[in-house]
Amino acid sequence: MTIHRISSDVLTALEHLLGQGGVVADAADMAKYLVDWSGDHHGGALAVLKPASVAEVQAAVRLCGTLGQAMIPQGGNTGLVAGAIDIGTAAHGAVIISLERLNRIRVVDADNFTLQADAGCILQHVKDAAEDQDCLFPLALGAQGSCQIGGNAASNAGGVNVLRYGMVRDLIVGLEVVLPDGELWNGFSGLRKDNRGYDLKQLFIGAEGTLGIITGVEVKLFPKPGKVETAYLGLRSFEAAIALFRQARRGCSDLISAFEIIGAECMDLARLVDPNTVVPVTAPVHVLIELSSGAVVDLRTLLVDFLANAMENELVADAVLAESGAQARAFWAIREGLVEGQAKRGYHVRTDLSVRISDIPTLIARARDFVARDHPGWLSAAYGHAGDGNIHFSVLPPLGLAEPDARTRGAAITTGLYDITNALGGSISAEHGIGRTRSRVYWAGMSPVHRRLVGTLKDALDPNRLMNPGCLFPATETLS
Ligand code: FAD
Ligand code: LAC
Ligand code: ZN
Repeated sequence: MTIHRISSDVLTALEHLLGQGGVVADAADMAKYLVDWSGDHHGGALAVLKPASVAEVQAAVRLCGTLGQAMIPQGGNTGLVAGAIDIGTAAHGAVIISLERLNRIRVVDADNFTLQADAGCILQHVKDAAEDQDCLFPLALGAQGSCQIGGNAASNAGGVNVLRYGMVRDLIVGLEVVLPDGELWNGFSGLRKDNRGYDLKQLFIGAEGTLGIITGVEVKLFPKPGKVETAYLGLRSFEAAIALFRQARRGCSDLISAFEIIGAECMDLARLVDPNTVVPVTAPVHVLIELSSGAVVDLRTLLVDFLANAMENELVADAVLAESGAQARAFWAIREGLVEGQAKRGYHVRTDLSVRISDIPTLIARARDFVARDHPGWLSAAYGHAGDGNIHFSVLPPLGLAEPDARTRGAAITTGLYDITNALGGSISAEHGIGRTRSRVYWAGMSPVHRRLVGTLKDALDPNRLMNPGCLFPATETLS
């Protein structure tokens, strides 16, 4: 990768705007902003800018605009598609604009069930602030202790509670955005219903920082559930798991807040994170089901009766109900540790596929067969948000295979898995986004009219293509 250096004049101008604490140009201090969470991708940057106010974000963006300087917005840097780091796609180098100093909860309006926060607030802090008012902000994912609410909005994150509460897109009431020309768009209203023309916030949600920098987010809150019941189940097959899900939505009065499936082969990954992991069941397929409701509902009886029936009908082979919050957290640790377990194995194929819920068993069966037949020695690991039709199908190289060889083979495996998904009418990115790792395949699969619409939007908002170059749009792509 070519190493670009920032000129001392530009550095001085940036320090003048943001103060010395607002500009990091020393290689050692920049290092943590230049590698993605998984350690798969290393990038470069001319400098990391850390504005401490919305006005400072505007000033930095204006100066970069004047200089024709590419910018990459960065939140908690937990994204899994290299959207927040430059892996060589910005022709003359980019500056990273980190939102980490913009980290205030602004207002919790418990009567309106809304919360406004700076974009750089850590998701866990947003959840804690909601809980302090006896409310729930339901976005829940393994990275919640590090990712930022602005990054969640920019990547339209999903997580484990989507089947009940929706993706981030469904959870946002308003946004505040610094546009590529430095102007501020204040899209806060506190209104849940507002049909005055185009819903502009939706443009920026899931845009992965290519249309502007989100500086503030206003989210929907929900009453904190008075009761939560969690069970860890063992089943004979993925077909049984999907049949169970179909029955559970009706049989549990649609009170399911999570329905995750895990292939038994994933338990080795859980043990890499915690060697003391106690796996609650022995079965080829595991299901983690969570129900939540207000305090007056007898949730326990509902779940126990439902599961007793499912066991009688031989749909469920084994079931362990959490007897305490600690036991429920131990169940969740198994599921949430899987992506970390994979990362501990080093380079691996990681996907984020979605199909119709009923096609999940076919997707997994075809993917497993393909790997076993064409790539012997590689290990398949399937888990995911079955209630949303979203499977993370990972493939781990044989131990000892040199990384360059694994990466070459991994690219072929990824293509094969995408072909299987496309044949089922699915999506190659259910929740993680496109970033830089999927931009080529995303563009290659687009119809001309779709490409023209996407390119027209980009050109209208960011005519000089300075905002996150290489992310979503392959660097060499001719747009509209
Ligand atoms: P970053 O990684 O910093 O950035 C992500 C993208 O958003 C980049 O393109 C960046 O340029 C842009 N961006 C960031 N902040 C802003 C901003 N303020 N304005 C404009 N653009 C911005 N995702 C799921 O959907 N579901 C999961 O279950 C899930 N689980 C995960 C578990 C683990 C352990 C990890 C590491 C990741 C997981 N993810 C999951 C990935 C997920 O997308 C991110 O964790 C999160 O949403 C990204 O937030 P971030 O603040 O880290 O953003
Ligand atoms: C998960 C991440 C990988 O579901 O999205 O664990
Ligand atoms: Zn996921």
